[in-house]
Amino acid sequence: MILPRPNEEGRVSVEKAIKNRRTVRSFTSRQLTKDQFSQLLFAAQGITEDRGFKRAAPSGGALYPIDVYAVVGEKGVEDLDAGIYHYVPPGHRVELVGPGDKRKQIANASLWQMWMAQAPVNLVITAEYARICSKYGDRGIRYAIIEAGHVGQNIFLQAEALGLRAGIVGAFNDAEIIKIMGIPKNHEPLLIMPVGYQA
Ligand SMILES: Cc1cc2nc3c(=O)[nH]c(=O)nc-3n(C[C@H](O)[C@H](O)[C@H](O)COP(=O)(O)O)c2cc1C
Repeated sequence: MILPRPNEEGRVSVEKAIKNRRTVRSFTSRQLTKDQFSQLLFAAQGITEDRGFKRAAPSGGALYPIDVYAVVGEKGVEDLDAGIYHYVPPGHRVELVGPGDKRKQIANASLWQMWMAQAPVNLVITAEYARICSKYGDRGIRYAIIEAGHVGQNIFLQAEALGLRAGIVGAFNDAEIIKIMGIPKNHEPLLIMPVGYQA
């Protein structure tokens, strides 16, 4: 599905977003609009360069080892069935990886942090190290993990700017998350960010 065109202007200053950002662990079931979903993914990994290559977050050697997936709950996003979606930056679109509301399974695999399952959407940031280690060797692992942090902060600040809140989770069983989501085994999950309206 091609996502709506992202906005280039908002109503919250970056200063306010930084000041107000907090890890939130309690969400309502209110669904996200397609526009909000689109904007969050664009902030995470959208192509921001006019000639269509460079992305919203910096990347060592512009090798882009990060993928962003969305775990969308039942009625989590306007006009989108529950499922696991892969964000594809060229064309600003999402592809269905597999159907079904997997939020509870994701929360269970995250040391039973069940609050995660309340959020309409969980964004999962993964790294494929081979893409960057081919140039930088083992140091590429460090670069990819740093990049994931940039992507996470972009999501946090964009959520604030949209009147949404986000959480951030690093405590989960990698292999279980990969299995539940049905994503490639070499896409190592680094961060899971539940996003929605604060309860
Ligand atoms: C890499 C990383 C992993 C984290 N993992 C978890 C987690 O598994 N569960 C959780 O509730 N919070 C997690 N947090 C959130 C921290 O607890 C939170 O950022 C910290 O308490 C500071 O609060 P603030 O984000 O509201 O400023 C994580 C944060 C980071 C950066």
